[in-house]
Amino acid sequence: MELTREQVDFERLNRSLNDETSLKDYKAPYDAYCPGLVPRLLSAFLISSGNLVYGREPSYLKFRAIEVIARVPYQSWSSVIYTLQTFCYTNEKRALALSRAAQFSSAAEENETMHVIVVSHLARDERAGVIRHTVIPLLFAFMYFWFSYLLYLVRPRSSFELNYLFEDHAFEQYSRFLELSRDTLEKKPVQSAFLDWYGRSPANQFEFFRSVRNDELIHRNSSIQQISS
Ligand SMILES: [Fe+2]
Ligand SMILES: [Fe+2]
Repeated sequence: MELTREQVDFERLNRSLNDETSLKDYKAPYDAYCPGLVPRLLSAFLISSGNLVYGREPSYLKFRAIEVIARVPYQSWSSVIYTLQTFCYTNEKRALALSRAAQFSSAAEENETMHVIVVSHLARDERAGVIRHTVIPLLFAFMYFWFSYLLYLVRPRSSFELNYLFEDHAFEQYSRFLELSRDTLEKKPVQSAFLDWYGRSPANQFEFFRSVRNDELIHRNSSIQQISS
């Protein structure tokens, strides 16, 4: 895949977050951000339902469900923004702001698609019935799509805040996984044609999951940056 200038910058930022000090410095300014009540209630519903079905601790199966669900806000924003642009052909300032948000969504969509495809590949040996494997992730993805879409229509800030909270949860889960399973993950390879096409070549699963953790933190912070852009 040919990388755009934005993707090259994104990959550079991702790699810089492998350094623990850089990670802390990048994370800290948004740690204290306080989202509104509606995003907090919706994220509590999504996260506690996930914990109930897949357990509190990270696992390949849980990551697969998280990734199926986590990619839909970006698709939802692209869709709602495309609709909203219909009403601002004569408002160049508004059209520009919407196009910038769409650019962020589009890059994040590609990134999250890579996550779900590679994680599904790694999770292929985890046993689960059709309900936990397929039905619940798709049902929650459907709900999350419409939460994100409707919130963006009514109050874009709330839609970004909901994403901030879900991405924060994903970041915490990947961080915990890296902490608990570092030795095992460093011995496991990652062979994925999709990841090769995407342009990442981690030496092992530790490096892969660390890059995904970094992606989620960038998505988390970028969601709040979108509010003021
Ligand atoms: Fe992700
Ligand atoms: Fe993400």
